[in-house]
Amino acid sequence: MKSILVTGGAGFIGSNFIRMMLTEYPDCFVVNLDKLTYAGNLENLAEFRGHNQYRFVHGDICDGALVGRLIDEHHIDALVNFAAETHVDRSIAGPQVFIDTNVTGTLCLLEAARDKNLGRFLQVSTDEVYGALGAEGIFTEQTPLSPNSPYSASKAAADHLVRAFGHTWGLRYNITRCSNNYGPYQFPEKLIPLMIHNALHDKELPVYGDGLQVRDWLYVHDHCTAIWRVLEQAPPGEIYNVGGCNEKTNLEIVNLILSRLGKPQTLIRHVKDRPGHDRRYAIDAGKIMRQLGWQPSVTFEQGIARTIDWYLRSDQWLASVVSGEYQCYYEKMYRNR
Ligand code: NAD
Ligand code: DAU
Repeated sequence: MKSILVTGGAGFIGSNFIRMMLTEYPDCFVVNLDKLTYAGNLENLAEFRGHNQYRFVHGDICDGALVGRLIDEHHIDALVNFAAETHVDRSIAGPQVFIDTNVTGTLCLLEAARDKNLGRFLQVSTDEVYGALGAEGIFTEQTPLSPNSPYSASKAAADHLVRAFGHTWGLRYNITRCSNNYGPYQFPEKLIPLMIHNALHDKELPVYGDGLQVRDWLYVHDHCTAIWRVLEQAPPGEIYNVGGCNEKTNLEIVNLILSRLGKPQTLIRHVKDRPGHDRRYAIDAGKIMRQLGWQPSVTFEQGIARTIDWYLRSDQWLASVVSGEYQCYYEKMYRNR
């Protein structure tokens, strides 16, 4: 049996990853270490409460002693680090916590992994570390890191630290750099769930600037299968881009959501642009496809239909995550924008 320490497993991608492991790979034991920030939600994994191959630990990745204890206690073979502050707009409003968790937190995990001679350290990174593209071009694993936001700068710093621990101490690591994910359990600060939620409530849909920025979208389960492939098959020290070959402008996404929900385009409101807004991301995922045989299995049409259906069915989940802190956040971010 493989014993895996997942950090940030109560968030969007981490909870989808744990669900995949516990349902599709029953010979795994999963420890989920999560601080339960605004983005962490134990309801995302409610069906696994009391599951004999799953344990939740409420804690901070900056607590190196706790991480070391968990590695010993559960004979951890591999650590998958999802834990992070993840929202670009929040990083512009207040970068410090991004440094604390994404940089210092990753460093603490790395020190514990090195000291315990951990089998594998997988850092879940992002295509945003490469910076932005114009109308042409694509990010490969050789593209120099050139992050533009405090969020992406903190993720790039973490990637450099992971690599440095491999180089200096022989830590067996991998890094994955994925494009924009969407799917069930995504917190409605991100584009797709925010627009679904607003449209469902006939609220304005705030599109930054001209809305012609381009992102590559990948269904979350396909990101999870890519991470699993890397854990299972990748040689240490390899970095893999992960993406959906599915570039869309933000306006295309918003219009699609409106038409699927039968809502009018008049709900769209163009608002002040994000400072330093990256214009376009595009990712070449050829390496993971060729070397590890990974492929996305869900088309965008299937994925967005599943996602919208999930939000329609999950009105209680949605209502609970948009109460409290979310209201203050929304007010601060969007009022008079
Ligand atoms: P999320 O914001 O939904 O969840 C982050 C989780 O980390 C939460 O459960 C939170 O409680 C936890 N956390 C935060 N600080 C912590 C700390 N100090 N100690 C322990 N736990 C802490 O994030 P997500 O969208 O699921 O992203 C997961 C990872 O994937 C991140 O590293 C992110 O950079 C990366 N990523 C995300 C996307 C995307 O489109 N969402 C794409 C590529 C890469
Ligand atoms: O590319 C991977 C990254 O994707 C991840 O590393 C990040 O954690 C994740 O947050 C995401 O970053 P983005 O900034 O691309 O995602 P976001 O959902 O915030 O925005 C997507 C696009 O939509 C971006 O061009 C900004 C725009 N947008 C977003 C919001 C929330 C709007 O126009 N209006 C909005 O209200």
